[in-house]
Amino acid sequence: MCSRGWDSCLALELLLLPLSLLVTSIQGHLVHMTVVSGSNVTLNISESLPENYKQLTWFYTFDQKIVEWDSRKSKYFESKFKGRVRLDPQSGALYISKVQKEDNSTYIMRVLKKTGNEQEWKIKLQVLDPVPKPVIKIEKIEDMDDNCYLKLSCVIPGESVNYTWYGDKRPLPKELQNSVLETTLMPHNYSRCYTCQVSNSVSSKNGTVCLSPPCTLARSFGVEWIASWLVVTVPTILGLLLT
Ligand SMILES: *[C@@H]1O[C@H](CO)[C@@H](O)[C@H](O)[C@H]1NC(C)=O
Ligand SMILES: *[C@@H]1O[C@H](CO)[C@@H](O)[C@H](O)[C@H]1NC(C)=O
Ligand SMILES: *[C@@H]1O[C@H](CO)[C@@H](O)[C@H](O)[C@H]1NC(C)=O
Ligand SMILES: *[C@@H]1O[C@H](CO)[C@@H](O)[C@H](O)[C@H]1NC(C)=O
Ligand SMILES: *[C@@H]1O[C@H](CO)[C@@H](O)[C@H](O)[C@H]1NC(C)=O
Ligand SMILES: *[C@@H]1O[C@H](CO)[C@@H](O)[C@H](O)[C@H]1NC(C)=O
Repeated sequence: MCSRGWDSCLALELLLLPLSLLVTSIQGHLVHMTVVSGSNVTLNISESLPENYKQLTWFYTFDQKIVEWDSRKSKYFESKFKGRVRLDPQSGALYISKVQKEDNSTYIMRVLKKTGNEQEWKIKLQVLDPVPKPVIKIEKIEDMDDNCYLKLSCVIPGESVNYTWYGDKRPLPKELQNSVLETTLMPHNYSRCYTCQVSNSVSSKNGTVCLSPPCTLARSFGVEWIASWLVVTVPTILGLLLT
């Protein structure tokens, strides 16, 4: 492998060294978890603890101690976790019940080995709320000859979610996948019902509207019309009442 001389061999080793260090530090010491708020979580490392360790501490971010195991007993610190956490000194696992969005953070487990060395593991915990049920707004629906122009909005404000539109249970083409569906339906790709699925990595919910062929809205649950007709008709009715 290194037959062409020292130089190329050294270069190869220099290349390999930082790479292998990087891999261990990611695989061994940093774990990502994504959970839904309200659930019970176990923070655990994927390897066994050093034998006969002297002390084990769980931190929330870097400065707040949650629990410390020392001389065969666990001490729970005054923190927002008190009463909600439990340590298993055997595996080092930390159980947290009813995680909240405020618990979203990096957790650190520090172990003092019998040799006097310390070792550290990090777990990034992301806590997400379930997505709300979407309400589809009909921005516009218009009969155009044999075709039907349709603009439906499914926006969930202020949340990081993905949108997937389905027509009669089949996903619509990729280029139409957006929080707002704007399309012209033709006889060859007409669907009666349109479903907007919003999802994040812990949950998913649907909203659906259906059309009465060819191009009017059927009554569907969870639909809001953009109430522009109200603006026109209410003053008219008022005007009629007043005269
Ligand atoms: C979470 O754990 C608590 C006890 O700590 C239990 O009462 C509750 O049912 C658990 N909840 C879930 C969703 O598992
Ligand atoms: C934690 O991980 C260790 C090693 O993978 C495993 O033996 C142990 O059962 C786990 N403990 C919990 C509570 O999940
Ligand atoms: C939650 O934690 C993740 C990962 O640690 C981080 O990327 C994200 O910004 C955090 N979100 C909030 C709202 O703190
Ligand atoms: C949402 O709609 C899609 C397409 O019709 C369907 O596959 C999925 O099961 C629905 N999900 C829920 C939670 O109803
Ligand atoms: C239907 O087909 C027309 C023309 O090919 C296209 O512009 C439109 O985006 C399609 N709509 C759907 C919902 O597939
Ligand atoms: C949305 O989907 C993309 C691609 O599947 C994924 O990488 C991303 O994490 C998703 N975002 C959310 C908020 O679920």
